[in-house]
Amino acid sequence: MTDRTLGPIDRLLDDAQRALDTVFGAPPATRPNPAGNEADLVLDDAQRRHAAGLMRINHVGEVCAQALYCGQAAVARDAVTREHLLEAAQEETDHLAWCADRLRELDSRPSLLNPLWYAGSYAIGALAGLRGDGWNLGFVVETEHQVEAHIDEHLQSLPAEDARSRAILQVMKADEARHASNAEAAGARILPVPVPSLMAAASKLMKAVAYRL
Ligand SMILES: [Fe+2]
Ligand SMILES: [Fe+2]
Repeated sequence: MTDRTLGPIDRLLDDAQRALDTVFGAPPATRPNPAGNEADLVLDDAQRRHAAGLMRINHVGEVCAQALYCGQAAVARDAVTREHLLEAAQEETDHLAWCADRLRELDSRPSLLNPLWYAGSYAIGALAGLRGDGWNLGFVVETEHQVEAHIDEHLQSLPAEDARSRAILQVMKADEARHASNAEAAGARILPVPVPSLMAAASKLMKAVAYRL
């Protein structure tokens, strides 16, 4: 975890390490996987591919959330906001690990484009962060609401038999709602009109690609 006493070079190295861990490593979860003892029912091939496509989207969503928060933290002016962002990123690590576990169980893999998703989201996060700390937190709120909305879609769309993916998504959904209200309480401002729609468009593109790739 980044310390507010670190210098710029240390922080850069810390960011690079975090990016490599998120994209190529397997950061461990700090909480038990919510799928727990849910039976791993055998899905037919089409169901398994569909569930894997959805869980890959969720995994990419977590990669993007971490990258956004780290990009925002890199330019945050206020140390408290920076801590808030890095803490939010840290909490997404459990989600990342649980989605990766489920992808393995479904004989699938994370998106091959994760380095690209990470780099793009980091850049967007840093740009948003340059507008100031109220924007930074507003961006967190919007990101969390959008992630929560696509988790809801996936809960509807998952095969009924896939109780393990569903258990993971239900806990993630509750966490994302809490992340959004924490950021609201910390002083998020409401983003101006075109920004949420642009974010939704970017997320729609990501979902279409990550389902397959
Ligand atoms: Fe998350
Ligand atoms: Fe979150």
